[in-house]
Amino acid sequence: MQDRSGTILVSGGAGYIGSHTCVELVKRGYRPVIVDDFSNSCAAAIDRICQITGVNDLPVIEADIRDTARMEAIMREQECAAVIHFAGLKAVGESTQKPLDYYSVNVQGSLSLLTAMQAAGVKHIVFSSSATVYGTPVSLPYTESHPLAPTNPYGMTKYAVELMLNDLVASGAGVNAGILRYFNPIGAHPSGLIGEDPNGIPNNLMPYVAQVAVGRRPHVNVFGNDYDTPDGTGVRDYIHVMDLAEAHIAGLEKLMASPDSFTVNLGSGNGYSVLDVVKAFKKASGRDIPVEFAPRRPGDLPAYWADPTHARELLGWQTRFTLDDMCRDQWAWQSQNPNGYPDGDTKPA
Ligand code: NAD
Ligand code: WQD
Repeated sequence: MQDRSGTILVSGGAGYIGSHTCVELVKRGYRPVIVDDFSNSCAAAIDRICQITGVNDLPVIEADIRDTARMEAIMREQECAAVIHFAGLKAVGESTQKPLDYYSVNVQGSLSLLTAMQAAGVKHIVFSSSATVYGTPVSLPYTESHPLAPTNPYGMTKYAVELMLNDLVASGAGVNAGILRYFNPIGAHPSGLIGEDPNGIPNNLMPYVAQVAVGRRPHVNVFGNDYDTPDGTGVRDYIHVMDLAEAHIAGLEKLMASPDSFTVNLGSGNGYSVLDVVKAFKKASGRDIPVEFAPRRPGDLPAYWADPTHARELLGWQTRFTLDDMCRDQWAWQSQNPNGYPDGDTKPA
């Protein structure tokens, strides 16, 4: 028999944030069971998790979270005590083109996992939400009580899952949930063995900057330099993915220790501009990073950052890594893996 308190189903565990959290789970003595359909990840990520942790028999199951019967069977067979739920689609622009895909994977997928949890008697879930649920800032920094008004289908799906979780918790089903609203996760494991490996042209700033530094792209397009911000470029609250991974452990342990549910921002509380990020990355990489100013990207907000007080008070967690640390570790990943994971489209054998 496995120790039931230590086995955690990690949906989307082969992905960017999931892989880093699995490393942290193993380090803390947990047994992650990775469930992933490998639609946006690959077998090499699993090999690298094994390399970092020294664990070679990590359970990895290729499955779609929308297969409720399969999820229930996995939870029973593996004797899972909790779920950390990362699996989903995450590209804001794509969500406006393919909204039904986003509702299917993100909302129907979460419903499926929760249904399986109820059937299998699994009581705790940590959910990846996003600062995007807040929408246009009424006040900054965003606190958890800021009104929720997402401005794109991706954000709507996160909002919908938050509502579903809150209703399930309130129903007295005995499930408790930790809703984590991430700000802008960047960086990589300090070993440079795992990191974010976007398909095609990166949508997000940090992987784009890193690909310019390594010579894969000629320059960074800075989307707008006429915002009402100190240097005119967009301001965000960047968070090191290893800080994020630690927050998942803190959230999980809180859920296991007390019946209460919670919603917390995961950010540093600091805002950095696009040009701040480029400058820090230049320093970390020692490479030239040319920029070109381009029009604003439709749908972008000028500036936002987190009030991280609630996470600190409730979970005893706060960010440890600086923007320079984030750039150093992103560069370790990018310079050691200039084209991402080897055979980045293969699934586990
Ligand atoms: P990712 O794409 O790297 O990881 C998601 C993983 O889920 C991938 O491995 C993918 O193959 C898997 N997956 C997708 N659909 C699936 C399905 N139907 N069944 C099983 N597995 C499936 O993304 P990430 O950056 O690691 O994000 C993880 C979670 O955090 C997502 O829910 C995302 O919306 C949320 N989030 C991400 C960010 C960010 O900027 N990266 C910010 C806020 C919230
Ligand atoms: C950051 C800043 C851009 C690319 C998105 C989602 C959010 C969350 C995190 C999932 C902005 C500027 C970007 C580039 C640029 N994901 N930029 N040139 O848009 O804050 O957040 O990812 O939940 O929901 O919306 O992140 O990294 O795309 O942009 O100038 O090539 O960099 O305009 O000011 P964003 P980002």
